[in-house]
Amino acid sequence: MIRAAVIGLGTISAVHLDAIASNPEITLAAVCDTDEARKDQAPDGVPFYTDYCEMVRRERPDTAHVCLPHYLHYPVSRKLAEMGVHVFCEKPVALNIAEAEQFAALEAVHPEVKICICLQNRMNETTVELKRIIDSGEYGRLTGLRGFVPWYRDPEYYSRKPWRGTWAEAGGGSMINQSLHTLDLMYYLGGEVDRIHAMAGQLNDYGIEVEGDVVARMEFKNGARGLFFATNNNWTNESVQIRAALEKGVFHIEDNILYRIGPDADRQVICRAPRHEGVRFYYGASHAKMVERFRLAVETGGDDYVHVRDAVMVIRLMETIFQSAKEDRLIGVL
Ligand SMILES: NC(=O)c1ccc[n+]([C@@H]2O[C@H](COP(=O)([O-])OP(=O)(O)OC[C@H]3O[C@@H](n4cnc5c(N)ncnc54)[C@H](O)[C@@H]3O)[C@@H](O)[C@H]2O)c1
Repeated sequence: MIRAAVIGLGTISAVHLDAIASNPEITLAAVCDTDEARKDQAPDGVPFYTDYCEMVRRERPDTAHVCLPHYLHYPVSRKLAEMGVHVFCEKPVALNIAEAEQFAALEAVHPEVKICICLQNRMNETTVELKRIIDSGEYGRLTGLRGFVPWYRDPEYYSRKPWRGTWAEAGGGSMINQSLHTLDLMYYLGGEVDRIHAMAGQLNDYGIEVEGDVVARMEFKNGARGLFFATNNNWTNESVQIRAALEKGVFHIEDNILYRIGPDADRQVICRAPRHEGVRFYYGASHAKMVERFRLAVETGGDDYVHVRDAVMVIRLMETIFQSAKEDRLIGVL
């Protein structure tokens, strides 16, 4: 049994609180938000703090869930590691490559502390099965991979939480905040990327700083060709789609179902993953799995979770996309 704390009681915290509440091996020790008005989000009988350091000193949780704006992920995680608390940090690992590498170095400085980055879509059953199919070689080698994220964010999404629209506090827009999971899966499923030619821009008229739309052509080291397309300017939030072409079969994930695509475009269901309940179905339903995997690692001294070092590559891909878009040419991954 471990005792967990949650820092940041905004949008994503409900998913973390649910994952903790549904896990019989985890007790919620305390919650924290600098915004006093969020006190009523603390479940009955759970202490609320506005200062996470004070919370840690008084409650001594085993783990702390970092559900904060992006610019706070590394500094708050570093402080928690210094205080001897295991960290379960929301994505992204950091704002940029330099900060991500500093964060990765923290794992060596504090080997007594485990730090997991919440790239939960790696644990979706559809992802696990597609990865198994690709890695098995059963259908030959990978020739093409496409990730498509057709989402929508209204103006209030940014005006309610202004950090989300700024470079300094978010580190980007669509890529770092919405489509990061899919960009991560491009690498997780497709392997190392060699070169990228990308375009990035903003098709909405909200007056925010960060990008809302990205298209990137990728050349994988294994010879496969990739296309990544993400937008926050669809008319609604539709399912992420991932398509993988292998020499002897084409596979497709949509609405949390993995299909094999037949020669007449017919779809044979390979597996169905549960959807996250409610409006934000598109988060995927694997937070609880990742929380349990981390709990096991903390309690048994295991190593099977997404380390900080495993979460750096997606930041490299993101920065390469920005750089390629700026230079408007094919460039090597940074
Ligand atoms: N894994 C996923 O699928 C997924 C989905 C959505 C969001 N996220 C991530 O979750 C994180 C939070 O996003 P959000 O949309 O919930 O943000 P949010 O703005 O809704 O919530 C952040 C909360 O942190 C609080 N806060 C700010 N500074 C604090 C501090 N120093 N100490 C304590 N509390 C503080 C704010 O008052 C706010 O309530 C982001 O990293 C985001 O990318 C992940």
